[in-house]
Amino acid sequence: MSVIAVWGKNGTGRSTVATNLAVYLARKGKLVGLVGTNKSYGSIQYYLGTAISEEKSLKNAIEIVNEDDIVKSFVQHPKVKDLFLMSLSNSDNCLKLRGVKEDAGKRLILNTKDKFDYYIIDCTENFTDTLTAIGCQYADIILEIMKPTIQSAAFRISHEELLESIKLKDKIVSIANLNKDLMRISDIEHKAKVKFAQILPYSKNVENAENTGEPITLLGPQNRADKEFIRKITQIAEIIENKGRIGLPNIERKKGISFIKIRK
Ligand SMILES: Nc1ncnc2c1ncn2[C@@H]1O[C@H](COP(=O)(O)OP(=O)(O)OP(=O)(O)O)[C@@H](O)[C@H]1O
Ligand SMILES: [Mg+2]
Repeated sequence: MSVIAVWGKNGTGRSTVATNLAVYLARKGKLVGLVGTNKSYGSIQYYLGTAISEEKSLKNAIEIVNEDDIVKSFVQHPKVKDLFLMSLSNSDNCLKLRGVKEDAGKRLILNTKDKFDYYIIDCTENFTDTLTAIGCQYADIILEIMKPTIQSAAFRISHEELLESIKLKDKIVSIANLNKDLMRISDIEHKAKVKFAQILPYSKNVENAENTGEPITLLGPQNRADKEFIRKITQIAEIIENKGRIGLPNIERKKGISFIKIRK
């Protein structure tokens, strides 16, 4: 079991990476839980063409105390059967989940993470958001997504001291995600004082997924850029797999929740 927090500055591609990785791993037969931590509106489901009802909203899940009932708030993806989502619902508004208390956030994450092979948390950029802070704290790997821009470098530098003080730096794997207004990767690495483990290419079809709900790892590659994007996602999955093995040698998967058992 591995917990993967996808973190970075707003708009750098966290949800794009989180959803593509989740679909890729689930299509390989791994049980994947994907948690969208956006507190303003239900966002991540749109990248996956899935709806989340109010009944299954993160807003409700955060208030549930019984462990099995929290897990039942995950929504199974209609096409990718091993992928389960949690997020604010399609009809929640920004007043619904103003703050998440630390104990409620911990209860949610700690009671559900072990039910999956991979537990991916699409974080916000902000460590004052409870689920982001707890997600990163319990993560085996933090995938830091950076667009090669001055803003991204400035954002990273401004977080250096914080990451060091809360002991997250060693878990960070930095990923460059390209867009059209590029800076040289080496310049960004120098400015942000990072070394990228992978560089994801720009792809129009990857960009489209935000609106079509079909990530490229589900749709399949249509051109070279798509192929390259998928290849890089595969390599990121390998990094995660290896780190997980090093960090968690003897942990067995806990018993699955009933609906997962029924499905199998
Ligand atoms: N590799 C890529 N190629 C093309 N477009 C991309 C790529 N990665 C991300 N995008 C696009 O960049 C924009 C931001 O990506 P995304 O929504 O995944 O970022 P985010 O960090 O989750 O943003 P937010 O702060 O809104 O949560 C989206 O329009 C997305 O489609
Ligand atoms: Mg996002």
